[in-house]
Amino acid sequence: MRLAKYLAGQGVASRRKSEELIAEGRVSVNGNIIKEQGFKIDPLQDKVEVDGHMLQTADKVYLLLYKPAGYISSVSDPWGRPVVTDLIKEEKNRRIYPVGRLDLDTEGLLLMTNDGDFANIIIHPRYKMDKKYEALVQGKVTKDAIKQLQKGILLEDGMTAPAGVHVLKHSSDKTLLEVIIHEGRKRQVRRMLEAVGHPVIHLKRTEVGFLTLKGLKDGEYRYLNSQEVKKLIMISQNTPNP
Ligand code: URA
Repeated sequence: MRLAKYLAGQGVASRRKSEELIAEGRVSVNGNIIKEQGFKIDPLQDKVEVDGHMLQTADKVYLLLYKPAGYISSVSDPWGRPVVTDLIKEEKNRRIYPVGRLDLDTEGLLLMTNDGDFANIIIHPRYKMDKKYEALVQGKVTKDAIKQLQKGILLEDGMTAPAGVHVLKHSSDKTLLEVIIHEGRKRQVRRMLEAVGHPVIHLKRTEVGFLTLKGLKDGEYRYLNSQEVKKLIMISQNTPNP
């Protein structure tokens, strides 16, 4: 495995930053400084150090955050707005980052980790990990609009996969929908609902795979246990037609 890919997968830094660390001579393999970008390592055999610190391969962390609206799904913001990592008080020494993103004004379940492979399983559409949302939308949603959403919607970046959609409740001018998708395109749920004439008033992600927000208030988080992590990985491996 390429050294930069390994460093990124271990949560040391992004792939690009890892390449910079290598170029700066800050990474050694079995005691030798490596500056060659294409250098390949055996993750099970080789001892990799960054700035003289041995990487702890077991040092993976998985968190489930109830993201409040008003927080950016990022580790920093050039304009100094609140970011989700501000809420994770116990993890100041590990470089954790959000798994995908929820919009600034979306609340709900956001996973955070320093494990790149795990993040990929949750985000990449090929693993078909379901994400469930509650969307309060303008207008009374018709059966026809629901059918369109269930078939897939043509957005400017192409056709979406079919969505699972149910009406949870409605009044004369608003509808609360449950929407299940496994893709994670930018503002996807909002754009799909807008496309069928029902702009979103409020959006909350309630589930990712089998994980829920149970027991958490907004702004709170908990660590996933190893069973939960294993189960998510197993689900992704059993996905048909990857
Ligand atoms: N879809 C959206 O439109 N926004 C989100 O934050 C997540 C999914």
